[in-house]
Amino acid sequence: MGKTAGSWMDLLDRKSMVRSIPSVLKAMAGHPVPLRITHCITYRCNLNCTYCSRHDIPGRELSTKEIKGLMRSFRGAGTLFWSFNGGEALLREELGELLTFGKNLGITMSFATNGALIRERIDEIGDADMVSVSIDGPRDIQDANRSASYDMVIEGLDTMSTRGIRFNLFAVIGNHNIDSLGHVIDLAEHFGTAAFFQPIRIQKEDKAGNARLYFPEARQMREAVAYLTDEKRKGRPVASSYDYLETIGECWPSGMPGVRCYGGRLFCFITPDGFVTQCCDTLASASANEKCDLIENGVDALKDIPPPKCATCYSSLPLEANLFFTSLRRNPLGGLGKAIRCVLRA
Ligand SMILES: C[S@@+](CC[C@H](N)C(=O)[O-])C[C@H]1O[C@@H](n2cnc3c(N)ncnc32)[C@H](O)[C@@H]1O
Ligand code: SF4
Ligand code: SF4
Repeated sequence: MGKTAGSWMDLLDRKSMVRSIPSVLKAMAGHPVPLRITHCITYRCNLNCTYCSRHDIPGRELSTKEIKGLMRSFRGAGTLFWSFNGGEALLREELGELLTFGKNLGITMSFATNGALIRERIDEIGDADMVSVSIDGPRDIQDANRSASYDMVIEGLDTMSTRGIRFNLFAVIGNHNIDSLGHVIDLAEHFGTAAFFQPIRIQKEDKAGNARLYFPEARQMREAVAYLTDEKRKGRPVASSYDYLETIGECWPSGMPGVRCYGGRLFCFITPDGFVTQCCDTLASASANEKCDLIENGVDALKDIPPPKCATCYSSLPLEANLFFTSLRRNPLGGLGKAIRCVLRA
């Protein structure tokens, strides 16, 4: 897969980063641009991971025609990145068709997956610019917590590697895998890619708080992120940024990072039934707000996303983005320097 990535920015291609600059500047000046969309295309899932509650939530799903209409409208509003998420995105038969459609609109397309169906669907996903694959650790840990999927995931990674499809790895940090995170870094190294890590949290759909059973002690989480930071310093492929790891160590499980929220202003999430919201932590309440219905109101719905009232903010992409843009706002030259170094390295 080429050179090993050391930062999430290294996983973006140079052209996409350069194309993003005007939108970022516009949003920093107070004019929201939906630069990146994460679309939870379905809540259905073929696995039943022990700590996850975002699967098999009943409800309507947008049709392929409706999704294409939204992609066209968002592209017109400045969207450059679109990522399908879920549930399990590969359960939507037309995923490949939608990746091709978005790519033809000039959008950088990606999707997140549990990896179990990659091999079977490999001929359809060649237009993905990046695939994010969840894996939590060695076979025994993965199989006990992610529905016996280890072998299927590894086969999927092998197949994508052979076909030249770019991917990264994505691991939750919980008490089920906290002593085995090195396995995920080893796998990333083996495949020439990088691994993102995010701490376990109570997803807002999880009314019973089941994920709490997988919460390590705060001290263990601090030790885990210190380990990841050290590995990253040694040049190993940990894609999560130093800022992100440090913030998790300081804030998890109940502190709020000192960041400005760019959810709904630079990045947005879309629910399976077509409601727009800030991030994965506000999905559950989004569909209750009819002003945020994209099919009824179009991209204008973005203006009606209510301000966030969050007690915590830990998810990988939203917090990485909030930290990056907050630091860019505080120190524009430093932030731009960081981005330029990544563009030059890409
Ligand atoms: C909800 S899944 C949807 C995409 C796909 N089904 C997958 O597993 O990659 C997105 C990511 O959230 C992670 N996740 C699930 N439950 C979580 C929790 N309670 N806390 C933190 N991350 C969680 C998953 O492991 C996965 O990496
Ligand atoms: S983490 Fe992904 S694969 Fe696992 S149950 Fe949740 S949505 Fe499904
Ligand atoms: S969890 Fe973070 S990104 Fe999501 S709405 Fe709250 S502050 Fe914004």
